[in-house]
Amino acid sequence: MSERFQAPRGTYDVLGEEAAARETLEGHARRILERAGYERIETPAFEATELFARGVGASTDVVQKEMYTLEGGDGQSITLRPEGTAPVCRAYLEHGMHKRPQPVKLWYLSSYFRRERPQKGRFRQFWQIGVEAIGSDDPAVDAEVILLLAELLEAVGCRGVRLRIGSLGTPETRRAYREELQAYLRAHEGELAEEVVARVDLNPLRAFDSDHPGTQRVMAGAPRLLDRLSDADREHFATVRALLDAVGQAYEVDATLVRGLDYYTRTVFEFSSDALGAQSGVGGGGRYDGLIEQIGGPHTPGVGWATGVERILMTASTIAPVEPPLDLFVAYDGPERQVAAFRLAADVRRAGRTARLELGGRSLKGQLKQAGRANARYVAVFGGDGVTLKDSESGEQRTVEMDEVMHHISRVDL
Ligand code: HAM
Repeated sequence: MSERFQAPRGTYDVLGEEAAARETLEGHARRILERAGYERIETPAFEATELFARGVGASTDVVQKEMYTLEGGDGQSITLRPEGTAPVCRAYLEHGMHKRPQPVKLWYLSSYFRRERPQKGRFRQFWQIGVEAIGSDDPAVDAEVILLLAELLEAVGCRGVRLRIGSLGTPETRRAYREELQAYLRAHEGELAEEVVARVDLNPLRAFDSDHPGTQRVMAGAPRLLDRLSDADREHFATVRALLDAVGQAYEVDATLVRGLDYYTRTVFEFSSDALGAQSGVGGGGRYDGLIEQIGGPHTPGVGWATGVERILMTASTIAPVEPPLDLFVAYDGPERQVAAFRLAADVRRAGRTARLELGGRSLKGQLKQAGRANARYVAVFGGDGVTLKDSESGEQRTVEMDEVMHHISRVDL
């Protein structure tokens, strides 16, 4: 026997109930986001590698270790998208969306690729629902996107969710703060984890993320970016919080909130759930006022988030799969009756009703069992006496003509 294949590590097949739960989740996202004026966008699964190197940031784990990069065929290096923000900003520029009323509000549901170590809740191909609102630096946009994610998580019944927010200021503030933090880290080099020391030049902020006890002790006394914000940034952050307060959205201010991508400026936020264990991030995002310039456009502010579909499904309690009701099951006795049965099922479907036909070569008895399992409202049986139609609700059963079947089915309440 030849080798049997399995889905590659860190990937999975979407089957049955999970497929149904995903559809329900997508329905909630569409309803909530389109009602708030977000328009669906779909970008290609791969982009020029340089877009991510410049957009996401050369020092991030995502760009350094996790990208699936290949030769694209024209001597251009391409990368399977590890995230959606840089591609959406690329599309905003490419399609001159700055000419539309700002901010342009877009949402997506797509799959992303990161070569991470697979574990519970962490995949190499995963799905995100996300939004990007591009073209306004109004703190009300930050507050609005945060509320939309809160609403989505609430609608699908995510349990134990908490929201942390912070502000990273502008690049200038960050640069000055970075130098201050680097000097502080160098002064404590002996107490820090090796990998933290190795990253002092490239990404000192990640030191706040470390679970190394010595590093944690040092970081407890480290200078905080939130205390170094410019007046404009402090005010921006205060307005975001005031708006969240005004609508009763609970949050915690986290002065050390670090996100894994480099493009963030000002507001950052993360929703996490205790129900998830180590990979507790359900969704997160923030403002990226410098990203569009990084990828060759004019200065254009933006803010958005993404939430992991797998993570939502792991924490959600109420994503009940909705089975569409089955109007008719068509059973038939013997292959000579297959054509007539096939035609009936096709006609019923063309009339906008749901119908299922025996396709597994089962005996009539087996077919009737299937009809019961499928919860069919009507069962049509092609047998020796013509067509018998059974109404599963009333139990009534009678011999009918073909067109009478249609007549009965069309009376079922949708
Ligand atoms: P991110 O924090 O890298 O942000 O990913 C967002 C969410 O995607 C995470 O909170 C998590 O739920 C899910 N996720 C990330 N990696 C994996 C994985 N390997 N397996 C399963 N789920 C995963 C971004 O991607 C930004 N583009 C968000 C954003 C949009 N910021 C501004 N706009």
